[in-house]
Amino acid sequence: METHYSVAIDGPSGAGKSTIARAAARRFGFIYVDTGAIYRTVALAVEREGIAFGDAAGVGALLPELEVSFGYGADGAQRAYLNGEDVTGSIRTPEISRRASDVSAMPAVRAYLLDMQRAMARSYSVVMDGRDIGSVVLPGADVKIFLTASAECRAERRYKELAAAGSAISREEVLRAVIERDEHDSRRAAAPLTVAEGAVVVDTSELDLAESIEAVCSLISDKLGVKADA
Ligand code: DC
Repeated sequence: METHYSVAIDGPSGAGKSTIARAAARRFGFIYVDTGAIYRTVALAVEREGIAFGDAAGVGALLPELEVSFGYGADGAQRAYLNGEDVTGSIRTPEISRRASDVSAMPAVRAYLLDMQRAMARSYSVVMDGRDIGSVVLPGADVKIFLTASAECRAERRYKELAAAGSAISREEVLRAVIERDEHDSRRAAAPLTVAEGAVVVDTSELDLAESIEAVCSLISDKLGVKADA
């Protein structure tokens, strides 16, 4: 039987998880799975349907109606589809970030999405990033990494991304949103953000992107005993 490796990368928003996980996946020839995008796609559907975000029953009833799927561009970037429509761009707004945090706190949503995430890891070697991958989704992952950075550092990175995309949001607003979302993601009862047992903590506050990718790839390489491509 073919060996499938699984690498779980968890951590707060803005720690560079998706960029680093995508780069690591490419270097090992694994599939990159951005699980945050699944929660974001559900949030977009809830918003479009006009269901109140606190309405757990309404959100629960919508789930079986949704067809959430993923594809990969030529650059290896993951694309998200909602009922066949490419929603990759629409799920990255600050509003959907907040809404994704709301829906991800609902146990029914988490339970519904669990199988989808596990099925991907059964079929492929994956680098999967999220909040509860090492603790809940893939507790038996071959490598578990908790990627973090100070809130100020993460807010600054997110601010630059948003400003580059033409957003007029201020630094202070971004920092406030980062702190608020951290609190929400860490304090919720359902699968809160924690360092999974056996996870190695990597703090990227003092590392640039290339150094962060290097740190993560060498950890993966050491644990799996396989080499990354340059
Ligand atoms: O990583 P992100 O910012 O795209 O995630 C969006 C939201 O989804 C975030 O508030 C946390 C939540 N999330 C989660 O609860 N579990 C995951 N595995 C991934 C994301």
